[in-house]
Amino acid sequence: MFLVILLFGFFPLSSALSHQYHFVNEPKTWSEAQSYCRANYTDLATLYNTDDVNALTQLGSQTGSAWIGLHDDVQNSWRWSITNSSFYGPGETTYRNWNSSQAEPNNFRGKELCVEMLPDGTWNDFPCDTVFSYISFVCYGVNDTYVLNTTKLSWNDAQASCRANYIDLASIRNSTENQKVHDAANGNRVYIGLYRTRLWSDGSDSSFRNWKSGQPDNSNYNQHCTAVSFSDSGQWTDENCSTTRPFFCYSAFEAVGLVGLRMAIQTKTELTEAEIEEMILKPFLEELIGNGLPNSTTVRLRRVHRINT
Ligand SMILES: *[C@@H]1O[C@H](CO)[C@@H](O)[C@H](O)[C@H]1NC(C)=O
Ligand SMILES: *[C@@H]1O[C@H](CO)[C@@H](O)[C@H](O)[C@H]1NC(C)=O
Ligand SMILES: *[C@@H]1O[C@H](CO)[C@@H](O)[C@H](O)[C@H]1NC(C)=O
Ligand SMILES: *[C@@H]1O[C@H](CO)[C@@H](O)[C@H](O)[C@H]1NC(C)=O
Ligand SMILES: *[C@@H]1O[C@H](CO)[C@@H](O)[C@H](O)[C@H]1NC(C)=O
Ligand SMILES: *[C@@H]1O[C@H](CO)[C@@H](O)[C@H](O)[C@H]1NC(C)=O
Ligand SMILES: *[C@@H]1O[C@H](CO)[C@@H](O)[C@H](O)[C@H]1NC(C)=O
Ligand SMILES: *[C@@H]1O[C@H](CO)[C@@H](O)[C@H](O)[C@H]1NC(C)=O
Repeated sequence: MFLVILLFGFFPLSSALSHQYHFVNEPKTWSEAQSYCRANYTDLATLYNTDDVNALTQLGSQTGSAWIGLHDDVQNSWRWSITNSSFYGPGETTYRNWNSSQAEPNNFRGKELCVEMLPDGTWNDFPCDTVFSYISFVCYGVNDTYVLNTTKLSWNDAQASCRANYIDLASIRNSTENQKVHDAANGNRVYIGLYRTRLWSDGSDSSFRNWKSGQPDNSNYNQHCTAVSFSDSGQWTDENCSTTRPFFCYSAFEAVGLVGLRMAIQTKTELTEAEIEEMILKPFLEELIGNGLPNSTTVRLRRVHRINT
């Protein structure tokens, strides 16, 4: 007897193309909420658009507010002004030369969201735009050149000036380049391209923001985490990370690729579908996974057709 077996296999293609939110109504600090989400789901919620805002407000139709994944971490939430990813080789976005004797970055004044190079070439986190923080800056130009501008500007104005006249504020990829910028700075305190910005807990680069007007205000200089406010249609406020709130997690769905397979099998006796599952599909699936497909791959029987006896 011959059987023709039609199989359909679901092969995951890439992760996190889609997501489902979960509301956890147990007040926790932001870090506790993050641990909970990572243990039980994928991570704290990342939002990509207003549909996501609506999904959250419908899930947690509560009063008060709940944590999401956007936060500002003094040690890690740093980005370079040059965003072109091909500018950076492996590991080159994470080169740092913080001043160690002052334990930088220390967020000393609470709002030190930009970075200056000190006269000895080490880095200090520094306010971006206060009267005393207007300093010189070093731009990055064509052919890997570094140019000092001694006009004293805020970090944003320095960035705009470099983008208008050269390529960008100096974004430093390794110690060789740090030395070049140090040389260009010529003993001045200068802004470089590094700045601190709120990042998503799962590392997503979603640029979607839904701040309530006047937010984030970092009042008391200690509001580094983000909450969805139910009384403000799901708009966001910045909050003290050590306060406790309910929170939103998400779980990622994997995208599936669907592949149809046709298999002809010769057998002596007639097989039931259960026997086909056990004797043919299971070993076949093990073989696929053994050959490198993800272990979330599934195979199911679509149709069995007897072609000969
Ligand atoms: C995962 O969720 C359970 C309740 O569903 C909770 O008891 C447990 O503490 C959570 N895990 C973490 C690490 O928070
Ligand atoms: C991005 O960086 C690469 C390498 O430095 C460069 O060749 C390319 O022109 C840059 N692209 C843009 C759009 O600036
Ligand atoms: C850090 O900064 C202090 C004060 O500006 C300076 O004395 C020291 O040499 C700097 N360098 C390092 C490596 O900490
Ligand atoms: C950059 O380097 C190339 C090759 O050395 C040279 O032809 C070009 O003139 C340089 N551009 C500038 C603006 O210096
Ligand atoms: C320095 O920056 C100022 C302000 O943008 C600009 O007018 C000036 O041309 C710059 N100088 C150089 C040498 O780039
Ligand atoms: C520093 O980075 C530049 C640009 O990627 C590269 O050409 C140079 O070789 C690097 N130097 C070191 C010491 O890694
Ligand atoms: C807010 O955060 C600070 C530390 O950043 C902490 O000392 C303080 O107790 C927190 N306030 C509340 C109300 O939790
Ligand atoms: C699937 O693979 C992951 C990582 O390789 C492993 O942790 C997990 O236990 C596997 N699950 C099954 C059901 O084999």
